[in-house]
Amino acid sequence: MPDSRTLPRTQPVLHDSRTTLTEFRPGDENAMVEASQDESIRRWTAWPRSYTLTDAQQGIAQRKERFRSDSAVAFAIRRTGSDLLVGGCDLRTTQDSPHRFELAYWLAGHARGAGVASSAVRLVCQWAFRELPALRIEALVQPENTSSRAVLLRASFTHEGTLRAFRIRRGLPIDLDCYALLKNE
Ligand SMILES: CC(C)(COP(=O)(O)OP(=O)(O)OC[C@H]1O[C@@H](n2cnc3c(N)ncnc32)[C@H](O)[C@@H]1OP(=O)(O)O)[C@@H](O)C(=O)NCCC(=O)NCCS
Repeated sequence: MPDSRTLPRTQPVLHDSRTTLTEFRPGDENAMVEASQDESIRRWTAWPRSYTLTDAQQGIAQRKERFRSDSAVAFAIRRTGSDLLVGGCDLRTTQDSPHRFELAYWLAGHARGAGVASSAVRLVCQWAFRELPALRIEALVQPENTSSRAVLLRASFTHEGTLRAFRIRRGLPIDLDCYALLKNE
């Protein structure tokens, strides 16, 4: 029977001299709970305000289930040479096209300011354009989230426009800037 999956059956390890991307592993939960206390994560992501060890365990199980069902691959971000989880970078498939993917990422406060997220985004995009049918990778960012925008611009994404009142977050409509990177860029 032909394989109808968009994502591979096993998740690769991606790395450069700064950043290594692996699966999430049992033992990553404490670092996720600690990261959830960070002000930027609270402000710019939909993580629950009171994020517990159980939320982290469920989060890891949910990431594995999404990979099994071909809807997303979730990379744990680690500094190369260390096992400690310092962030996450998700690549989601889309319903409408096997060629369009969505990217999302976060980094623990202590790991910022060293180019780790930018490396992670570059590694995931290079892999997706090389190994998956990806032609377009998108990221949606709140206009005021300047650190996130800088990550995308460093990785050569283009700002394509603003989706007004595109999502409801914590009960309020938010605008999202759409950034995209194409395979041949
Ligand atoms: C968005 C987020 C991941 C960006 O983190 P970050 O540390 O600023 O990004 P990077 O890891 O790529 O590091 C870039 C910084 O390191 C510096 N840097 C140092 N060495 C570098 C290198 N070799 N390459 C690139 N940048 C380097 C850059 O100058 C930049 O610093 P600056 O912000 O003072 O200009 C982080 O702010 C975050 O997790 N925010 C909360 C969640 C979030 O907003 N997620 C995105 C939702 S759309």
